[in-house]
Amino acid sequence: MADYETITTRKQGAVTLVTINRPDALNALNTTVLADLIEAFRDFDGDEGQRCAVLTGAGDKAFAAGADIKEMADKPAADFYAEDFFAGWTEHFTRATRKPWIAAVNGFALGGGCEVAMMADFIIASDRAKFGQPEIKLGVLPGMGGSQRLARAVGKAKAMDLCLTGRMMDAAEAESSGLVARVVEHDRLMDEAMSAAEAIARMAPLAAIANKEAVDAAFETTLDQGIRFERRLFQAIAATSDKAEGMKAFIEKRDPQWTGR
Ligand code: CAA
Repeated sequence: MADYETITTRKQGAVTLVTINRPDALNALNTTVLADLIEAFRDFDGDEGQRCAVLTGAGDKAFAAGADIKEMADKPAADFYAEDFFAGWTEHFTRATRKPWIAAVNGFALGGGCEVAMMADFIIASDRAKFGQPEIKLGVLPGMGGSQRLARAVGKAKAMDLCLTGRMMDAAEAESSGLVARVVEHDRLMDEAMSAAEAIARMAPLAAIANKEAVDAAFETTLDQGIRFERRLFQAIAATSDKAEGMKAFIEKRDPQWTGR
């Protein structure tokens, strides 16, 4: 496994655990973190033995407190534009894997941290987690998709509230507003996230990818197109050996033996 400067990775069975490892900067996301995450997630995606990933932040305080303000403070506007700054998070990181992954949010998920958590297929949060898009307090706005993903996740009212006031939302509010799939006691976070990932890893791998693709399509298409896309995916997946095995195993009252084909 590659050595990274700003993250650590560990393969546990069929689950890859990736940890952003800049606790002294509350895991702020600089360009090295982006490059490391892209490589780690590509490695995960290309490894047939790996079926699901979990992303978390090192230390007890933060998942990630945002894009690295110290990296951006003196950067000329022309450089942001010339480099298409932040584009890599959408163009490369979110596309680095077709396989499912979970964000295990252990503390602050602010600005870019909230945005990266929302790039996950779903979020499991510690009861100490705090979410927000406080960029307005820095005289800017979200830059890694926050205004768009937050509005889709929690609706216009709360997205506007969070973006315009810059306030933080606690884990209970994040769960009740639909941003977070589960909230668990802080000390149980990693057990819960790893066991959710292990449960996904036990599913037929192509079906896992297809389920993810189908749900994602709900945010990109009309209802009619999305339903047609889902039906076509279902029909394609019906051609897999794992579909035959899954249904046969159910009828024979035994566990399925997936081949990933
Ligand atoms: N970038 C760089 N460094 C950061 C950081 C960030 N986003 N967030 C925290 N840090 C650093 C602090 O500068 C501090 O470093 P030093 O010890 O060297 O001073 C260290 O992490 C610890 O932080 P604090 O002392 O501030 O910790 P705290 O417990 O008092 O406060 C906090 C915690 C409320 C999360 C506070 O750190 C904070 O408000 N952080 C910034 C949050 C923010 O504005 N995020 C948005 C960034 S912009 C963005 O993300 C753009 C985008 O959309 C992509």
